[in-house]
Amino acid sequence: MTSRPYVLLSCAMSIDGYIDDATAERLLLSNDADLDRIDAVRAGCDAIMVGAATVRRDDPRLLVRSERRRAERVARGLPPCPVKVTVTASGDLDPAARFFTMGDGAKLVYCPTGVADKTREQVGAVATVVDAGDPVTPEAVLADLAGRGVGRLMVEGGGSLHGQFLTAGVADELHLVVAPFFVGDRRAPRFVEDGRFPWHPGRRARVVEARQIGDVVLTRYALSDRCDG
Ligand SMILES: NC(=O)c1ccc[n+]([C@@H]2O[C@H](COP(=O)([O-])OP(=O)(O)OC[C@H]3O[C@@H](n4cnc5c(N)ncnc54)[C@H](OP(=O)(O)O)[C@@H]3O)[C@@H](O)[C@H]2O)c1
Repeated sequence: MTSRPYVLLSCAMSIDGYIDDATAERLLLSNDADLDRIDAVRAGCDAIMVGAATVRRDDPRLLVRSERRRAERVARGLPPCPVKVTVTASGDLDPAARFFTMGDGAKLVYCPTGVADKTREQVGAVATVVDAGDPVTPEAVLADLAGRGVGRLMVEGGGSLHGQFLTAGVADELHLVVAPFFVGDRRAPRFVEDGRFPWHPGRRARVVEARQIGDVVLTRYALSDRCDG
């Protein structure tokens, strides 16, 4: 039996818990030093996952930026960058998005059975579309990723995806960065929406590290006993 991949959630938020603002522009929360840290974390993973809304809104590349880190991965017998993973319920993905066009590595798109044909029509030429049943659950995605040899998954957001991995209890570690400003606009997305989380006042998560990185603060939480800190 293949065990589920180790799941590391990564998020940057404002002091008041927002992960973006409500404008059309992408909000920069991290600083350069933190982005370099994230690059190192990415380089240590087999796959990176974001939700389809993040693909559409932020158009991220999701590549390892550092040439040295890419070379080190290749020296270890790995592809230069982790596999890119997304999930959609609508199938509304643009094959011209940087998720698909940047980097030579594998791209996986998970979707429910009902939109598998539509999703293949949209992005089947540039990605592997996986019918993950209905509804698509974090557990189903993780089981499929494990079967593809993914041992370590980094989930970079957005909030919908983080919320699902957290409430399903299939997250091992959380990297939460707090940027030193407020967004102050309830139309903006939060880190997570309402839900029943395994960590609450009666069951507190364990902090394994708190580190100032320039003007932001990273807190690393252990969310399972697989996280050794
Ligand atoms: N600060 C940060 O660290 C950070 C990181 C990443 C993103 N963000 C921000 O987060 C915001 C987007 O977050 P979000 O929560 O709105 O969206 P998201 O998590 O990026 O994506 C949500 C979408 O993913 C698909 N999806 C999620 N779970 C699914 C499931 N179980 N089955 C099928 N499809 C599923 C659906 O796509 P369809 O709509 O195609 O059906 C859903 O609408 C953006 O503003 C972005 O800038 C911030």
